[in-house]
Amino acid sequence: MRKRERKIVNAQITGVGKYIPEKILDNKYFEKIVDTSDEWIRTRTGIRERHVLEEGGTSTLATRAVENLMEQTGLKPEEIEVIIVATVSPDMFFPATACLVQDNIGAKNAWGFDLSGACSGFLFALQTGANLIESGQYKKVVVVGADKMSSIVDYTDRTTCVIFGDGGAAVLLEPTEDLEYGVQDSILHCDGSGKEALHMLGGGSLNPASHETVDKKMHYIYQDGQKVFKVAVKGMADVSVEIMKRNNLKSEDIAYLVPHQANLRIIDATARRMGISKDQVIINIDKYGNTTAATIPLCLADYYEEKKIQRGDKLVLSAFGAGFTWGAIYLTWSID
Ligand code: ACO
Repeated sequence: MRKRERKIVNAQITGVGKYIPEKILDNKYFEKIVDTSDEWIRTRTGIRERHVLEEGGTSTLATRAVENLMEQTGLKPEEIEVIIVATVSPDMFFPATACLVQDNIGAKNAWGFDLSGACSGFLFALQTGANLIESGQYKKVVVVGADKMSSIVDYTDRTTCVIFGDGGAAVLLEPTEDLEYGVQDSILHCDGSGKEALHMLGGGSLNPASHETVDKKMHYIYQDGQKVFKVAVKGMADVSVEIMKRNNLKSEDIAYLVPHQANLRIIDATARRMGISKDQVIINIDKYGNTTAATIPLCLADYYEEKKIQRGDKLVLSAFGAGFTWGAIYLTWSID
């Protein structure tokens, strides 16, 4: 049997794109619809405003993010081999959002699938995409994080409605033979015993949509905020420190922590444990709130656009979310 020739390559991010819907809901808006205040939201979460998509579903966010990626990189739809969409708010159970994106952009040579990892979804998808590249079988993989959280948020529940927003962002993964660049390491986890603290119970095979599921508001996000907060602080900090140690990274080696944007206090605690300063942390929670799978690629897209990330920068991406799911990815940025 002929041995398959395999070059050793890393997967590197060679482009980023994003889409943020126009409509803004600021904190003052929530003062009008629930018992809350701008001050509470800012000091407890760091959020000032979030955006919501008025027409379309998550595939709209994902499609526009990939279109933006193609505009910026010159990538042609027919060159894309795989599309992975991380999301917890797919347009529908099936077909997958990835198929809808494929059709919308005319990526006639691509296959793809959705990946449900909640707030860690982008990390799980990035690792999956990186493995497809590292296998030698694929050369152009698009990884998207997109969520229309406004479609599953109860706007009468002050404990969740102020937190979430809509958005989408995408990266292009390609191989590099220069192993200094690209994805270097990852540590990923899930623990389903966290299901009681953060979930959406209705609409799936266990509780198919019915009058009862709607009456009981089972099609909305439920979160035990305090419980999730405690495990998120520990989970995100532990895994970020572990990936630093495993790769002999000192705090000064890290250009940026790219954290999931759920709560500024969780981000600050993670940065403190890593021993890094505030200017080594990418933050945009004030503008977008928690966009679930989109937060980390949105951070990359914003800071790249603002020319704050340079080629050679060492980044630690870190997240915690429903499941529970959590993890960290260490990569070296390769775009000039
Ligand atoms: N406005 C005013 N008061 C509020 C609001 C609000 N929007 N929300 C809650 N409160 C009240 C509570 O009712 C409570 O009042 P009480 O003391 O009279 O009972 C008080 O504020 C304190 O409530 P806590 O829940 O303790 O508030 P906390 O400081 O923990 O903040 C928050 C809540 C922001 C949700 C926080 O717990 C958090 O960020 N949790 C983690 C979120 C997370 O990381 N999620 C994972 C990712 S999401 C995903 O995967 C889909």
